[in-house]
Amino acid sequence: MKKIWTTLLLGWTLTAFTGCAPKAPQPTESTSYEPLTVEVPARPAGQKDVIELTAPALDTVRVGFIGLGMRGLSAVERWTHLPETRIVALCDLLPPNVERSMKIVRNAEREEPATYTGDETAWKQLCERPDIDLVYIASDWKHHAEMGVYAMEQGKHVAIEVPAALTLDEIWSLVNTAERTRKHCLQLENCVYDFFELTTLNMAQQGLFGEVLHVEGAYIHHLEEFWPYYWNNWRLDYNRAFRGDVYATHGMGPACQLLNIHRGDRLTTLVAMDTKAVTGPELVKQFQNEEAPDFQNGDHTMTFLRTLEGKTIHIQHDVMNPRPYSRMYQLTGTKGFANKYPIEQYVFQPEQLQQADLPDPENLNSHAPVSDSVKEALMTQYKPRILRELEEKAREVGGHGGMDFLMDYRLVYCLRNGLPLDMDVYDLAEWCCLAELTRLSIENGSAPVAVPDFTRGAWDKVIGYRHAFAR
Ligand SMILES: NC(=O)c1ccc[n+]([C@@H]2O[C@H](COP(=O)([O-])OP(=O)(O)OC[C@H]3O[C@@H](n4cnc5c(N)ncnc54)[C@H](O)[C@@H]3O)[C@@H](O)[C@H]2O)c1
Repeated sequence: MKKIWTTLLLGWTLTAFTGCAPKAPQPTESTSYEPLTVEVPARPAGQKDVIELTAPALDTVRVGFIGLGMRGLSAVERWTHLPETRIVALCDLLPPNVERSMKIVRNAEREEPATYTGDETAWKQLCERPDIDLVYIASDWKHHAEMGVYAMEQGKHVAIEVPAALTLDEIWSLVNTAERTRKHCLQLENCVYDFFELTTLNMAQQGLFGEVLHVEGAYIHHLEEFWPYYWNNWRLDYNRAFRGDVYATHGMGPACQLLNIHRGDRLTTLVAMDTKAVTGPELVKQFQNEEAPDFQNGDHTMTFLRTLEGKTIHIQHDVMNPRPYSRMYQLTGTKGFANKYPIEQYVFQPEQLQQADLPDPENLNSHAPVSDSVKEALMTQYKPRILRELEEKAREVGGHGGMDFLMDYRLVYCLRNGLPLDMDVYDLAEWCCLAELTRLSIENGSAPVAVPDFTRGAWDKVIGYRHAFAR
């Protein structure tokens, strides 16, 4: 009754104010349309999907690194802490970068690796070595897919830094090569191993949030201090040349794992929108001393995605402007809520926590976050196995607080035990496809774009995301 009176009153007020009854805006013409689509190449004859792919267990994981800049160097350092591994070869175009990594290996008193340097294609020789099981790629974006494909063709598993591919052609060639060669093709998405994300994923899998309906993720990082250090200016050049979310994987990874993407649900459509490019052209002027009216990447890009099961994802990208670092990581469920940035928070329907042994349960309500002591108690109670076993070591070795070490550790663990990896080539495809698909949406007035099913029909073969463990 109260609602009816409010509506009547609001209608009367508007009528009195405008002198006529309020009218809902009408569409000017009927708008029945399909989303924009991109081609999905047919699976080559004789080829099967690689869902839950396993490979023969390896006693020792013999690795070769390509790309030893800021990121590759720290990867080599982390690997010196991984038992049952051998760093067989190091490759970078620039000899001083190889030398810096070599020093790290020597200081760790590991066997001296072979080196490849000084030539644009020296990395191919590394891939061709018969004594390497895994090629670890941390070069600039332009080289990722080509290196990954070649390494798999030489019979190697590959791990490729984010984003592993930037075009749909690159994505399909990685998918097709992984399917044909039956080699693991993993994207090194470290944010799915952040301690808060891992713990929250476990809570979600135990049903603490009810049904997870909406997830937000982002890469908001003011890269001001990094721009001068990228080899050959690759990152700014890429942003200059391409519109759309070119670095979506840190937000997409955790969101897609929460929503069991290609493990019972799949992405169907996206729409994207960006601001104009302001800071990007200024950076070109600052570092290259030239005007850049052609600069493509908007300062801030937003993407909305929908899934077949009626869930939604919101992803943001801003590397240009002064904002606190944020990957957002926020989830809304029917029985609870989680948020990582700017502060870690959980909200639950009180009955969700009734069985739990919590420090101050009388204060639970569904409008305010749980207290810090309840949050800590829950995070301890729901600490996933990976963290229970490795948190201390991960903190000690480090790499973004330890998540980088967990990522490398899990890769080695799964390879040594012949298990499916935590992320497969379809995860890579789904998280990377935003680069080209958001551009398509933005360049067509933010039109909806259909997200291809990169599994080509195998998206519900496995139900629910899980980490694999040896018996
Ligand atoms: N996951 C994360 O948190 C994270 C953090 C930083 C960077 N990254 C990713 O890591 C990758 C590398 O980034 P970076 O910051 O180290 O960049 P960088 O410019 O410091 O390093 C790139 C390296 O690739 C080398 N390289 C280029 N062409 C080569 C070739 N043909 N053969 C051999 N080496 C070649 C360069 O010499 C350089 O040392 C990027 O994909 C980036 O997005 C990820």
